[in-house]
Amino acid sequence: MFFDVARVADWLENTSWAAGIRQSLWLYPALEIVHIVGIVMLVGAAFMFDLRLLGFSRNLPLWGMSRHLLPWSRRGLWLIIPSGILLFMTNAKSLSTDPTFWLKIVLIIVAAVNVFIFHRFVFKTDSGGQTELSPVSKVLAVVSIVVWIGVIACGRLLAY
Ligand code: HEM
Repeated sequence: MFFDVARVADWLENTSWAAGIRQSLWLYPALEIVHIVGIVMLVGAAFMFDLRLLGFSRNLPLWGMSRHLLPWSRRGLWLIIPSGILLFMTNAKSLSTDPTFWLKIVLIIVAAVNVFIFHRFVFKTDSGGQTELSPVSKVLAVVSIVVWIGVIACGRLLAY
């Protein structure tokens, strides 16, 4: 690894922020709630759009759904990432050696690459009239659903 994970984790866990969260009765559960609300926005909106790509609710315009759902999905990251980092800092030493945490991070990167491929090569946002997409979009929709379920499963297992 190009930086000493154990030393960075030790530093993070000993910051006054991490100590403050550990000593507080309500801060950690409050961060978990923020994390979960962000997940509902990110993964909930992504799932609904993926199900439309898979052919459910064909009467609903693909373009309109993307304009409504995808910005809310992105906005979920504004809650997930800060709360996730603060949750991580609180137990950085044990989480940084937990394979479930690193599997979660790898799956998040796979999900991000999947979104990039979809928007860069498949979903031409200027073609407002497009009603259906190439079969590739269905494969990317299935990858999205499976990978986000994997991230959620890893997240839940982290809490044990
Ligand atoms: C981007 C998408 C993400 C999703 C969908 C996600 C999902 C989840 C889920 C479902 C949980 C379990 C919550 C519970 O039931 O208590 C969780 C917990 C957790 N997540 Fe995330 N997470 C994401 C990103 C992150 C990031 C970027 C970090 C840190 C860098 C992070 C750190 C954590 C930690 C430390 C916990 C354990 C909290 C606990 O002890 O309950 N997550 N995550």
